[in-house]
Amino acid sequence: MCGIVGYIGKNASIPFLLNGLKRLEYRGYDSVGLAVHDGSKIQINKTAGRIAALQDLTNRHPLSGCLGIGHTRWATHGEPNSINAHPHTGNKNMLAIVHNGIIENFDLLKKELSAKGHTFKSDTDSEILAHLFEENMNNGFDLVEAVRQGLNLVKGTYGLAVICDHHPDMFIAARLGSPMVIGHGNGENYIASDAAPFIGYTKDVTYLDDGEIAVVKNDSVTVKTIDDQVVNKSIHIIDTDLKQIEKEGYSHYMLKEIMEQPQTLRNTTRGRLLLEEGTAKLGGLENDIESLLYSRRIIITACGTSWHAALLGEYMLEELVGIPVEVEYASEFRYRNPILGDDTTVIAISQSGETADTLAAIREARRKRSKVFGICNVVGSSIARETDAGVYLHAGPEIGVASTKAFTSQVTVLTLITLLLGRIRSISTAQGRDLAQNLQAIPQHVETVLKNRKQIEQIAKEFQNVKNFLYLGRGYNFPVALEGALKLKEISYIHAEGYPAAEMKHGPIALIDENMPVVVIAIKDNTYDKIISNIEEVKARKGRVIAIANEGDTEIANKADKVIYVPHSREMFSPLLTIIPLQLLAYYIAINRNCDVDQPRNLAKSVTVE
Ligand code: F6R
Repeated sequence: MCGIVGYIGKNASIPFLLNGLKRLEYRGYDSVGLAVHDGSKIQINKTAGRIAALQDLTNRHPLSGCLGIGHTRWATHGEPNSINAHPHTGNKNMLAIVHNGIIENFDLLKKELSAKGHTFKSDTDSEILAHLFEENMNNGFDLVEAVRQGLNLVKGTYGLAVICDHHPDMFIAARLGSPMVIGHGNGENYIASDAAPFIGYTKDVTYLDDGEIAVVKNDSVTVKTIDDQVVNKSIHIIDTDLKQIEKEGYSHYMLKEIMEQPQTLRNTTRGRLLLEEGTAKLGGLENDIESLLYSRRIIITACGTSWHAALLGEYMLEELVGIPVEVEYASEFRYRNPILGDDTTVIAISQSGETADTLAAIREARRKRSKVFGICNVVGSSIARETDAGVYLHAGPEIGVASTKAFTSQVTVLTLITLLLGRIRSISTAQGRDLAQNLQAIPQHVETVLKNRKQIEQIAKEFQNVKNFLYLGRGYNFPVALEGALKLKEISYIHAEGYPAAEMKHGPIALIDENMPVVVIAIKDNTYDKIISNIEEVKARKGRVIAIANEGDTEIANKADKVIYVPHSREMFSPLLTIIPLQLLAYYIAINRNCDVDQPRNLAKSVTVE
């Protein structure tokens, strides 16, 4: 969580810093701050609230200088107020630091530094770093060495930037477990927690790896490890353009990202779907396909929405590839003692590629000699770089905190992997062609569902004031029920639960009355009759039913209170269509309740702490 930016160059730093923080606001938005070096001293503006509050403060108290760092915070230690906001300084205001991550041994370090005369102003663990580096400088180390020596004492994680009043010509960035990217400009350089702030400034970036420290000047970047070994880093080119990170006329990123799905799904399959051969081509897996094909079992690990996509991966891979698959929450997987080894392949799914639990699960799997494949959206992210091979989503930047287009692209990538492996192991050419053609048609079907959004907006009005929702689905649409419920609760703060429809009788049915709307995904698959019985059971208890059904299903209109239709598709692709109305329902309910859908309370887009 939290976002960092930094600038050094020939221009005023404030425009880049504020603009960059705005683009990183999705990572954290409870407090925010800047430190700017004016050539002789460091000046700081910080405040509780969002970037707009910092903008206001900076209008009232202008800062000038061509070197600066900034931070947008998602609180871990200490409540969100202006004292706990970053940047933090030591005793003397000589250094300013911004930090993402957690310093686990901060209590111990704080005691030691307090004994040496340091006085702490905030409740944060991060402030300790400013005092630690300052203490090292008091003891005669130069800035770089003071930071390096200090980081060697720290237990925990950090993405970090430091400026010092003795050094108007440089800042320091460091990384351990929390991403940090350097942008290379012409006579100016940048840092940020991800590459979004660089768009429109530079396409050339360097990703810091764990345990690396960079000294960034306006005309040079040098990187070494915290063990003092020089590292030669490569420069990568990012291909995101400004349009992709703008709202383009939509009121919210979330709506833009929902509406983009026909295009993002086309991008995910582009060049990868071989219609004639009825299979898929995935360059990222080509060299490692054998280990997947001959695995005794596959474990898919992820968190949140990505975990829901993983469940769909389990259903598809078991049905069409015939390899046993288990799906694990990364947060559980990393702390138990899972049975792994070279006969088990792990697939990690993550939109951001930075989720701390997923990253830790990957490391554990590799330690235990399993091959690990990644399915990520963010190019160059930690997970993309720490896995043995993988597939990118190509969904473009997802900025709304609630994941939408990444989910459908994750499911599509899992479908492509299933098709590729299935065609080698068991699927016939005819079956492969049928699946490939049906997958190819999905974006067009998504367009059809999106055209119906006015009806969903209307339904949202009728249900915006309820307190609880139940979501039911079977088979491939059980994970969709979970995902639909998650979307609603995270952006509208309405309590919602997803269940396999048949499980309703084992408990949740007790909750059903006229105040409990039930969303039932009732498409024409082989459990259709069963789900109709579930609808009857809900109606018998006066529950109101919103059904997601296939076009042409007139029978269901007699049973459900509302019906939202989606086109027919092969059952395994149906989640790509049934999830769309649920995303829209959550969106419209949330905006009717005046919720901030792009930045819901307590959430951050990239969960880089446990
Ligand atoms: C829900 C949501 C989260 C993420 C989860 C994992 O809308 O966005 O549940 O899915 O935090 O994030 P990634 O996929 O970045 O690892």
